[in-house]
Amino acid sequence: MEQQSTESVAPTATNPNMKNYEEERKTFSWEEIEKNFTWYETGKVNMAYEAIDRHAESSRANKIALHYCDDTREESYTFEQMKLNSNKFGNVLRDLGIVKGDRVFIFMPRTPELYFAFLGAVKVGAIVGPLFEAFMEMAVRDRLQDSGAIAVVTTPALLSRVPVADLPELKHVIVVGQEVEAGEGIVDYYKQMATASEELAIEWVDREDGLILHYTSGSTGKPKGICHVHNAMIQHYYTGKIVLDLQEDDVYWCNADPGWVTGTSYGIFAPWLNGATNVIRGGRFSPKDWYGTIEKYKISIWYSSPTALRMLMGVGDELVKQFDLSSLRHVLSVGEPLNPEVVRWGLKVYGQRIHDTWWMTETGGHLVCNYPAMAIRPGSMGKPIPGTDAAIVDDNGNVLPPYRMGNLAIKTPWPSMMRKVWNNPAKYEEYFRIPGWYISGDSAYCDEDGYFWFQGRIDDVINTAGERVGPFEVESKLVEHPAVAEAGVIGKPDPIRGEIIKAFIGLRDGYTPSDELKADIAKFVKEGLSAHAAPREIEFRDKLPKTRSGKIMRRVLKAWELGLPTGDLSTIED
Ligand code: WTA
Repeated sequence: MEQQSTESVAPTATNPNMKNYEEERKTFSWEEIEKNFTWYETGKVNMAYEAIDRHAESSRANKIALHYCDDTREESYTFEQMKLNSNKFGNVLRDLGIVKGDRVFIFMPRTPELYFAFLGAVKVGAIVGPLFEAFMEMAVRDRLQDSGAIAVVTTPALLSRVPVADLPELKHVIVVGQEVEAGEGIVDYYKQMATASEELAIEWVDREDGLILHYTSGSTGKPKGICHVHNAMIQHYYTGKIVLDLQEDDVYWCNADPGWVTGTSYGIFAPWLNGATNVIRGGRFSPKDWYGTIEKYKISIWYSSPTALRMLMGVGDELVKQFDLSSLRHVLSVGEPLNPEVVRWGLKVYGQRIHDTWWMTETGGHLVCNYPAMAIRPGSMGKPIPGTDAAIVDDNGNVLPPYRMGNLAIKTPWPSMMRKVWNNPAKYEEYFRIPGWYISGDSAYCDEDGYFWFQGRIDDVINTAGERVGPFEVESKLVEHPAVAEAGVIGKPDPIRGEIIKAFIGLRDGYTPSDELKADIAKFVKEGLSAHAAPREIEFRDKLPKTRSGKIMRRVLKAWELGLPTGDLSTIED
C-alpha cells in the first residue's frame, strides 16, 4: 500500500483540554477521569443525573442546556428546566409501572419533548431505544419485537406505524400531540405531563446496567440491538473534552438524529456531561437554514458528516459568504470516509480544519480521531484516543507493519464498548473472535507515523449517506414484492452519498422490465422498510450469480457494477 498523501495541516490553536497528544497518551488513566463523576464518591450512578441534574445543582443551573429550533419552533431550556421536565416524564413512566431494565422506545422526530422523554426514561433506569422517524412499520416492529419493548413514545403522525396488535409485550404507547385519541394502552403525553410531579427519586443503577439499545445493520440477518451501559459516560465525557474540545463558553451543534448513535453519544451524552450549551435543529437538511443556525446561535463547535459537507460543498462558496460563521472554531465529521478534497474546501471557505473521527455503534464512542492539538493528514481518520490502542491485524491476529492493509482492530476493553447484542450472544462473540481484540469489520492501514487510513468494509454492509444498511434486509423486502423472484443488493460508489443502494433483480414469470416497475419496487421498499433503505438504482437481470447452496454472490454483482474481474467463481451455480 502506498501512502496516499504526505499533506499535513498543522494545528491552529492549543487545546487546554489536551495540550499534546503524545504526552497525554503517556500519562493518561481512565481512573483519573472517573474522579470527575459524583459516583466516584457516592457510588450512585445514573447517566441522566451526571448529564443534567449535576449541573442543575451547580452554578450552571441557569445556563442554557438546550437551544431547540426548527421551521416552527424556537425554544431554549436551562439545565434546571431540563432537570424538571425530565423528572416529570420519569414520573409519567413510573406511574405506568416502568422499572429498571424495561425497554422504552422513542420513535419521534427531534423536538424538546424527545429529549425530556429520553432523559426521563434513563432516570427511572429504563433501557432506551431511539428510532428514526423515517422507519416504516416493518422496521419498527422488528425492533420493538426483538427488544421486548414495554413502552414507546411517539407522535400522532407516526402512530399508525406502531403495530400494537403484533406486539404482546408492548403495553403503553405515549403519544406526544395536541389531540390524542383515547384508546387501549394510549397515554396522552401532555395530559400526563401537566400533572406530573417535578420531583423524582432517581433510580441509581450499577455502572454495568443497560442504558441504551441502538439497532444497526450487519451483512446478514435482521438488525442487531447493540446494548450500551451507563459506564460509557466515562468515555463520552473524556472524548467530549479532547475530541469535541468542549469548553465552558462553547455553543455546540451536532447534526445527527438520536436514531443514530452519533445523535446520542455526541448529541446528548458528551455535550451535557461536559455542561455545554447544545443546539438541536429539527427538520431536514437545508444549506441556508444550517448556515443560519450557526450564525444565529454563534455556534463554535460543529459536528457534521461527509455527506452533509459534500452537499454544502456542492452548493458552493457564495452561500457561505452570505452568513457570519466567524463563531466557528472547531469542526468535526463522522460516519463515512472524509475526502481530502472536502478538508481542503473546509480550510478555504470556513477557515477551519475538519477533524475526521472514526468509531461505530458498537464502540459507543470515539476511538480513532484527529485532535485540535495534532497535525491533520487529509484523508486520514487520525490516531487512537489516549487510553486505547488500535492496530491493523491479519485474520490470525498478527499485527501488521505500516502500509499493510488488514482488519482495523481495537485492543479490548474500553469504557464505552458495547456489552451485548440483544438476544444474540453469538453475534457479539464474532466481534471478539481474535483474543484481546475487537474486530471492526473495516479494513484500513496505518502509516509509519501512526495515522490510520480507512480502506473499506470487509463485509457487504452498505454505508449510504452515513447510514448503515444491511443488504439482506433490503433483499428480504424486495422479494416480498409480487414481481420479484430474486434480488441482490450492493453499495454503488456515489460522489455525494459515498454509496447508493443498487438492486439487481430477477423478475417472476409474467412480468416485463419497465421504468414504472422499477419505481413501484423502490416505493415498495420505501414504504415497507424506510426511505434510506430504498434502492436508488434497479437493474433487471435474467439470472443472478449464486453459489451452489443458492446464496446470491454480492461480490460478483459488485464486480459487474464496477467493471472489474469477477474473481474466483468456483463456487458459482452455473
Ligand atoms: C464507517 C457510528 C470512514 C465505518 C459512528 C464504520 C467511517 C461504520 C468513519 C460505522 C470515518 C464511521 N471514516 N468510515 N471517520 N466513521 N465509518 O455504526 O465503516 O453507523 O464501521 O457509525 O461507518 O457505522 P455506524
